[in-house]
Amino acid sequence: MVMREGLNGWLLYRMEGVMDRIYGARKRAVYGGLPGTVVEIGAGAGANFRYYAPGTRVIAIEPNRAMHPYLWAAARRRGIDLEIRSIPGEASDLPDNSVAAVVGTLVLCTVADPQQVVARIQRMLAPGGRYIFLEHVAALPGTPLRGLQEWMQRGWRWCFDGCHLNRDTQHIIQAAGFARVDMDCFVMRSRWMPFAPHIFGVAEK
Ligand SMILES: C[S@@+](CC[C@H](N)C(=O)[O-])C[C@H]1O[C@@H](n2cnc3c(N)ncnc32)[C@H](O)[C@@H]1O
Repeated sequence: MVMREGLNGWLLYRMEGVMDRIYGARKRAVYGGLPGTVVEIGAGAGANFRYYAPGTRVIAIEPNRAMHPYLWAAARRRGIDLEIRSIPGEASDLPDNSVAAVVGTLVLCTVADPQQVVARIQRMLAPGGRYIFLEHVAALPGTPLRGLQEWMQRGWRWCFDGCHLNRDTQHIIQAAGFARVDMDCFVMRSRWMPFAPHIFGVAEK
């Protein structure tokens, strides 16, 4: 398990350029308006740091300690003022109504309890605060892609640190009680990738 966690950290670090090509334009479109302090849930190897303004204070909630050296290195490279909390998002202890912005990318697929993580995000946000999300999600029920996702699910989860291919994350975010949710759905160009369907958007408290 520990070895797999380390391997996933290395993989995320190596994939940063690829992820920038896939997601960079969308991220740049919304990250520009972020405040000086951002809470990031499941920050991984720091793939988002390149889009934050230098000097941004990032409170990274990242339970996998194998990610931490990558996070520190990314913070140094990008001029980020980093604090790491080595706890799961489900147990995040930031005070209610205290945070202006939360970012979570490719993380609700992996957490043990996505409803609880989104509820915590909702609680920590101040009124008017924003949760920016980017997630791969389940394909529509009954489609061949959904069949592929279900078929691959067990092995995929084992390989990729608990990642679920078949989560209806859009409904979890929509049901979480945000005042407003702007959500785009998009499918990656290679549409037969099991993680091709995505959601991207901003939820406002
Ligand atoms: C696929 S990676 C995504 C990393 C990064 N957000 C990105 O976009 O590259 C998922 C991350 O979520 C973290 N994670 C797993 N369970 C978590 C939990 N319960 N709470 C917060 N983060 C968690 C993992 O350690 C990993 O760093």
